[in-house]
Amino acid sequence: MKLVLIGAPGAGKGTQARKLLQKYSLAYIATGDMLREEVAQKTDLGRQVEEIMHAGGLVSDHLIIQIVDHRIQKDDCKEGFILDGFPRTVVQAQELDKLVGTLDAAIYLQVEDAVLLERLCGRQTCSHCGATYHQITLPSKVSGICDECGHALMQRKDDTMEAGAVRLATFHSQSAPLEDYYREKNHLVTVNGLQDADAVFQDICQGIERL
Ligand code: AP5
Ligand code: ZN
Repeated sequence: MKLVLIGAPGAGKGTQARKLLQKYSLAYIATGDMLREEVAQKTDLGRQVEEIMHAGGLVSDHLIIQIVDHRIQKDDCKEGFILDGFPRTVVQAQELDKLVGTLDAAIYLQVEDAVLLERLCGRQTCSHCGATYHQITLPSKVSGICDECGHALMQRKDDTMEAGAVRLATFHSQSAPLEDYYREKNHLVTVNGLQDADAVFQDICQGIERL
């Protein structure tokens, strides 16, 4: 199965991807995680993208398409994959079609901007396993420590009001057209991302089965 998760920053893509991976045996490709790893490792690529990411902008189509192309050729993607955070522009979607052919579903998580900013500014991310929490709505059992692996939680550098606002504006200008793109191809599953995470997941699964 070939799935893509689209939605604004904080819509719950990472949260739902983790749930989908428990149900379906698929490779997981999260372009934001891959880029953050490059930044953490201080690679040439990491140095190139760090400033753009922290400010809330998008890395160039050319660069990100190369990264995904390389990743998607790996053996673990042969049985299917979940793409989280890619495509983010129509150009990226067109390139993905060329790379992998027809998708099974493009899941669009719909959430209002005001809620998204609250989610982003309160998010805590595990430095080791990537699990996400929220200071108010989904706190870890022990403050600052991941329930799943015991490592420290951190705040992403782009999870500030300022960068969050830029990321939302970028989403509306660059990524919103993907909704029409996938609707026209009959791949779109639109889900109300304002519900609690389990209800969102149920809707996603039903949507996938209906397609
Ligand atoms: P990326 O890492 O993909 O960030 P993003 O799209 O901004 O998405 P997030 O990871 O912030 O949010 P999410 O939707 O995964 O939400 P989450 O589940 O964590 O990209 C980062 C940057 O990399 C980009 O800005 C760009 O610079 C670059 N980049 C990446 N891909 C690129 C591409 N293709 N092209 C160009 N540049 C690219 O949830 C958020 C919070 O809400 C958490 O605290 C969670 O606990 C909580 N939450 C989740 N679901 C619910 C719910 N249902 N109810 C209540 N709370 C919830
Ligand atoms: Zn963890």
